[in-house]
Amino acid sequence: MCGIVGYVGPRPALPVLLDGLSRLEYRGYDSAGVAVFDGDRVLACKRQGRLSRLEAALAHEILAGGGTGPDGRRARTGIGHTRWATHGVPSDENAHPHGDCSGRFWVVHNGIIENYRELKEELAARGHRFLSQTDTEVIPHLIESLYEGDLVRAVGAATRRLRGSYAVAVMSPLHPDTLVAVRQESPLVVGLGEGENFLASDVPALLEYTRNTYILDEGEMAVLTPDRVEVADRAGRPVAKRVFRVTWDASMAEKGGYGHFMLKEIHEQPTALSQTLAPRLTEEGEVRGEEEALDPAWLARFRRVHLLACGTAYHAGLVGKYLLERLARIPAEAELASEFRYREPLVDRDTLAVVISQSGETADTRAALREARARGAGVLAVVNVVGSSIAREAERVLYTWAGPEIAVASTKAYSCQVAVLTLLALHLGRLRGTLPAEEARRLGRSLRALPAVVERALSGAARVEEVARCVAVHEDAFFIGRGLDYAVAQEAQLKLKEISYIHAEAYPAGELKHGTLALIVPGTPVVALATQPDLSEKTMSNVEEVRARGGHVYLFAPASLTGGPGEGPGGRPAPGGGEASAGAEAAAGVEVITLPEVDPRLAPAAAVVPMQLLAYYAAVARGCDVDKPRNLAKSVTVE
Ligand code: M6R
Repeated sequence: MCGIVGYVGPRPALPVLLDGLSRLEYRGYDSAGVAVFDGDRVLACKRQGRLSRLEAALAHEILAGGGTGPDGRRARTGIGHTRWATHGVPSDENAHPHGDCSGRFWVVHNGIIENYRELKEELAARGHRFLSQTDTEVIPHLIESLYEGDLVRAVGAATRRLRGSYAVAVMSPLHPDTLVAVRQESPLVVGLGEGENFLASDVPALLEYTRNTYILDEGEMAVLTPDRVEVADRAGRPVAKRVFRVTWDASMAEKGGYGHFMLKEIHEQPTALSQTLAPRLTEEGEVRGEEEALDPAWLARFRRVHLLACGTAYHAGLVGKYLLERLARIPAEAELASEFRYREPLVDRDTLAVVISQSGETADTRAALREARARGAGVLAVVNVVGSSIAREAERVLYTWAGPEIAVASTKAYSCQVAVLTLLALHLGRLRGTLPAEEARRLGRSLRALPAVVERALSGAARVEEVARCVAVHEDAFFIGRGLDYAVAQEAQLKLKEISYIHAEAYPAGELKHGTLALIVPGTPVVALATQPDLSEKTMSNVEEVRARGGHVYLFAPASLTGGPGEGPGGRPAPGGGEASAGAEAAAGVEVITLPEVDPRLAPAAAVVPMQLLAYYAAVARGCDVDKPRNLAKSVTVE
């Protein structure tokens, strides 16, 4: 995700900003920029690529300025940004800061402005000129249009017109020594110095200068000058903030206080899901069809779907296959990209190839994309990294806006891939007339509410940690489920293998008796998933088969399917307990862990959370290097 830094005080601003940005590099970025005020003029400089390119450009600008241009060395106020592209490809123009028409208002922004299209149209009609493809650029223009001499008031009025998630920092030469910052669903921290103040989206950028901070809450606005920081709520009422003293060291701070990036990314899933889903669904649950990839005329051409991917992305494809067939009644196959490319697949121009990848650089997936395209298929990429090779080579793209994923084990990318594929299935279901309008809206509303369900699944982490400690002492484990649960079981076994090095297998629950049951001996851990009402009784019978052979079953299911405490049918929370608490009276050899209630078609994104946590805590218990498992790389760019 993007990074923000800001400074007001007596020091030269540029070195402070560049140092802060370098401390945020670990978050991943594709471009960087700064805007500083030298007392007379603004120097704005931005570059696609690494920070070193920005530094070189700044050195050049300062030298070239030579008394005529702004002098960055004199600047004592400024804002800086590392961008991780969402709207618009990585480029110099799309990098932040963005300015208004007059160059009086400069803005850096993290997050997504959902209603930027309508704002841009409105502003363009009033004569504003836009230079980038970003959603961010509407903000300085809005401020410009609302400014009547009071910067704080104009920023407040502008941000009230924004829908979505944002952390924004604003600088204006009309108000020297002042920064205005607003937080809405995207983190922002003020660093408190002596005669100077700092701003950052993440604590590591501040630690060199101060450990005293104000953590801004939702809707709060901060006005920073060298000697004061004033914070107000959404209604403009002053807020008395408590100073939060940071005690973490820099490496802990990069991980937001979590022990590993993987755990941080697991916990980022609610945010990642809202960024991916909220801009694409109305509050009523209807899919906004503005993206090219959702164009009804283009989609009408296809008679079948092939979902092509590797590893975790392939497991997301398995969920996609179920949902496309169930909701849109279109034949769908999920296939490993490394197999697809060599088997002369039966693919033609009636086929939609959905190519799924977090990195957008996986060699096998790229090759499958080319194979499908060469055979005439339409290619839709579901990709996380904007401007990546797969995004560029595909005909159309639906981005997952999960933010950068640093841990080798993919977590938040998976849930966002599942969310996008669900949205696609829902959309195709409507277009093909297989999903009635009211039913589609109901599912759309549940999909929009998925981040909250995932949040509840995360609240059961302590219980999953107990289970993980028991599993960690074994060398083999099994995961079983039926239908969508089998798809999740496959992702669960990969996660466990990959980071804990425990040998794990996923089986369709009904298939155990055809061979695998021979491997179940007293104490063998078997994780059973049962989230599907029409299949849960069958899965329970398979659980009994395991139990009868002495296997130890950990059953993950919503209370409505086990009869245990938890959310009732009306969605009430479990009396006295969070999610994933012990559920129904456990029979000997079966432990029940309760999952949050959710529409069964959306269960994978919730059920995968305890599976990710199980793998994580088992790996920690075994002393494994969680973020960098042996022999594996984050992006596999070789065949
Ligand atoms: O970047 P991609 O999504 O294309 O990567 C595909 C796989 O290499 C990836 O999902 C891999 O399986 C992960 N390490 C799983 O956690």
